[in-house]
Amino acid sequence: MFDIVTKLAAGLAVLVLGTGPAAAEARLDPMSALAGRPAGANPLDPMAAIRARADAGAARAGNEEFGGLPDGAGAEETYYQCVACHSTEIIKQQRVTDHRWDELWTWMVEAQGMVEPEPETKALILTYLKTNFSSER
Ligand code: HEC
Repeated sequence: MFDIVTKLAAGLAVLVLGTGPAAAEARLDPMSALAGRPAGANPLDPMAAIRARADAGAARAGNEEFGGLPDGAGAEETYYQCVACHSTEIIKQQRVTDHRWDELWTWMVEAQGMVEPEPETKALILTYLKTNFSSER
């Protein structure tokens, strides 16, 4: 009887321990934040990941021709619609919600006298702004 209990306990231990490595793999990888670090970067340097992200930002510096607005559908339309009154800097520094872009548009038209373009152009520009200067994505 005692022998059976010992064998059962041993079997149970093997089962429990056997799941160990698999369970560890499923856990969140704490090093994933460093995944984008440049090749050759010291993996023990806690700032490596941040520097890698800064480089990623520089890659989309924007198109000089359109006041530094990042390339994409609507960049040109946005440039000509908006620089009539102010530079693109005021746009590039924004990180706001979709709803806030809609509000800003209305404010620009109603309070600042911005001319409303064709509905398709308005949709194109708002989509461009919401895609590139968003706090939501
Ligand atoms: C008719 C003139 C006019 C046009 C055209 C115009 N704006 Fe403006 N905009 C203004 C004025 C005036 C301000 C206020 C500037 C200030 O605060 O000194 C402003 C401010 C802003 C601000 C800052 C708002 C804040 O929270 O302070 C943003 C963002 C902005 N404009 C985006 C745009 C975008 C995007 C376009 C093109 C779709 C555009 N504007 C077109 C007149 C205009």
